[in-house]
Amino acid sequence: MAALRVLGRCQATLCRSQCAPFSARAAAEHGRAAQAFPVLPGALLPIHRPTCEANTRNSARCAHRYLELLEKVKSGGGENAILRHTQRNKKLLVRERLKRLLDDEDFLELSPFAGLGLPYGDVPSAGCLSGETLYRKISGIWCMFMANDATVKGGTAYPISVKKQLRAQEIAIQNRLPMVYLVDSGGAFLPLQAQLFPDKEHGGRTFYNEAIMSAMKIPQVAVVCGSCTGGGAYIPTMAEETIIVDKIGTIFLAGPPLVKAATGEDVTAEDLGGAKLHSRVSGCVDHFAATEADAYSYAQMIISTLNFDPEPEGRAQFEDPLYNTEELAGLAPRDYRHTLDVKLILSRLVDGSKFLEFKAEYGTTLVTGFAKVEGNLVGIVASNGELTHDASLKGSHFVQLCNQRDIPLLFLQHTTSQDRFPPTVSKAEQLTNRLKAQASMIAAVACATVPKITVVIGGCHGGESFAMCGRSYEPNFLFLWPNARIGLVDAANLSWSDQKDEGWTDETEFKTQMNRLKEESSAFYSSARIWDDGVILPQDTRPVLGKCLKIIRQKKYEKVALQNSPLLRM
Ligand code: COA
Repeated sequence: MAALRVLGRCQATLCRSQCAPFSARAAAEHGRAAQAFPVLPGALLPIHRPTCEANTRNSARCAHRYLELLEKVKSGGGENAILRHTQRNKKLLVRERLKRLLDDEDFLELSPFAGLGLPYGDVPSAGCLSGETLYRKISGIWCMFMANDATVKGGTAYPISVKKQLRAQEIAIQNRLPMVYLVDSGGAFLPLQAQLFPDKEHGGRTFYNEAIMSAMKIPQVAVVCGSCTGGGAYIPTMAEETIIVDKIGTIFLAGPPLVKAATGEDVTAEDLGGAKLHSRVSGCVDHFAATEADAYSYAQMIISTLNFDPEPEGRAQFEDPLYNTEELAGLAPRDYRHTLDVKLILSRLVDGSKFLEFKAEYGTTLVTGFAKVEGNLVGIVASNGELTHDASLKGSHFVQLCNQRDIPLLFLQHTTSQDRFPPTVSKAEQLTNRLKAQASMIAAVACATVPKITVVIGGCHGGESFAMCGRSYEPNFLFLWPNARIGLVDAANLSWSDQKDEGWTDETEFKTQMNRLKEESSAFYSSARIWDDGVILPQDTRPVLGKCLKIIRQKKYEKVALQNSPLLRM
C-alpha cells in the first residue's frame, strides 16, 4: 500500500504543477472555493490493502468485459452488412457520419451496450447511437443526437431502439438540448410489431415527443441520409428543419416492393420518395444536399441559427483531485463487504479533493456536502453504509437545502437490501423508524427540482435505491460502474444455510436461482435494457460528470422563452 500512497502524493504534485494559468476572475473564484472547502484525507493506508486488492481484481475482470462489449458494438451489424452499407449503398458508416456532423469527436455516447443479449437476440447499440455533443466551433452549444446504424437490420426499430430514442428525447427535454436526428431506418422491425406499435411508450411516442419538444421550443433538425420508411418517415417530416441527401435519402410510408405488390406498378425509390421529389414537390424536407458531406455542413449551419447564447468562455478553470483517479478501481466495491469509506472515492472525484461536509458527525452512513466537479458546484449525497434513520433524515435535509439554493445533486449510490425478517421486536421497531425516515428522503428526492445525477458505484438494491435517486426518480443522468449490481435483493447476502431455514429444500435449484439473480444483477444486463444511461469506468467518472454538469448548465444560457404550439410543416 506504501506504493499507492506514494502514487497519491506524486499525483498531487503533478496536478499542482500542471494547472493551467487562471484568469483573474477565475482565480478569485477559485481562491474563494479553496479557502472555503477543506481538503479530504484521501491517502490509501496499509489497512485498506486487502480490500483494495480484492476490488482491483474484480474491477479488472469487469473492465475486461466492458472493453470486450465495446469492441463488439463498434462493429455494428457485422462485416457483410458494413460492405452492403458502404459499397453497395454508398453510404458513410454511422461513426463516420458523426465525425463529420460533430465538430468535436469527444462526444458523450449514451447506452452503447443497449440491445445486447436480449430475448430476441443481439441488437448492437440498439441499432442507433445517441449522445451529447458540444458544438464548440459553431456556437458553443450542447446538442443531443440520435443516429440510426443501418448496418443493424437496415436501421429498423426494435423495441429497445424505440426505448433508446425515447430516452434520448427525454434527455433533450429535461436538459433543453437541441436535437439532431440522422435518419437511416427501414421503420419498424416487423417480426416484433406487437411490441412496437400499440402502447404509450412505443413507436408513436417518438413523433408525439417531436411535437411536444417543438412546442417547448426545443429545436430539432433531421438529416435524411438513408431510407426513412414507415414510421421512419415521420421523424424528418416532423422535425423543424430537414436536409436530405441526393440519391441516398428517401422518405416513404411504403417502399417500391409494397407498391408493386399493391398496385403492380414498378417505381424506383428515387421517384417514389427521393431527394428531388421531397425538396421540390412534397415539401417534406427543406434542404437538398448533393452529398453526405454537404448535408452535415448544412446541419452545422442550421445549428448556428438556433439563437442559443453560448456559455461564456474562460470559466473552465479547476483543480484536479489530489489523488490518483486510477486508484478508484481498488475502491469500486466488489460487494458490500469490500467497501471502504466513500470519502476515499470522493477525494478522487472532486476538484482539489476539497469537500465541505454537511452534518459530518450525524448519520455517518450517508455522506453529504458540497464540492466542485470540473468547476461546477454540486451537492453530494454518497452512501457510506446502510441508509439508517439518522442518515435518511440528514439526506432529506441536505437534498432540500440544495433545492433551496439551486445546486445540482450528485448521488453516489451503494445500497444494500435489508432484512425482511427482523429477528427481534426492537429490531423491527428500529426498521419501522428507518422506513419512516427513508420515506421522507424519498419524498425530498422525488420533489427536488434541481438537476440530479446518479452514479451507482456499488449496489442498487431495494428501497434504499429509491432514496438515493434510482431510475424512477428521474435523475438527468444515471451511470453505473461496471462492478455495480442492480436487483431487489443482493445475491451476495443470500446463503444456502440461511435459505434452508426459510423453507428451501433443493440446493441445486437454489444455486440455479442464485446464478440467475447474479446474471440479472450485473451492470451490463441493466445497460442492455437501458435501465441507465451507460456503464462508465470508475476512472472516467470525473470527466463524464464534468460534461453532464456543463450540459445541465446550458439551460441558463438559453435565450428562447417557452411557447405552447409546435412548428407545423406546411
Ligand atoms: N423488418 C424486419 N427486417 C427488415 C426490415 C423490416 N422492416 N427491413 C429490412 N429488414 C432486414 C432485411 O431482411 C435484411 O436482413 P438480413 O441482413 O438478415 O438479410 C436487413 O434488414 C437489411 O435489409 P436489405 O433490404 O438487405 O438492405 P438494404 O440496405 O438493401 O435496404 C431497407 C434496407 C430498410 C431500405 C429495405 O430493407 C427496406 O425497404 N425494408 C422494408 C421497410 C419497410 O417496409 N418498413 C415498413 C415498416 S412500418
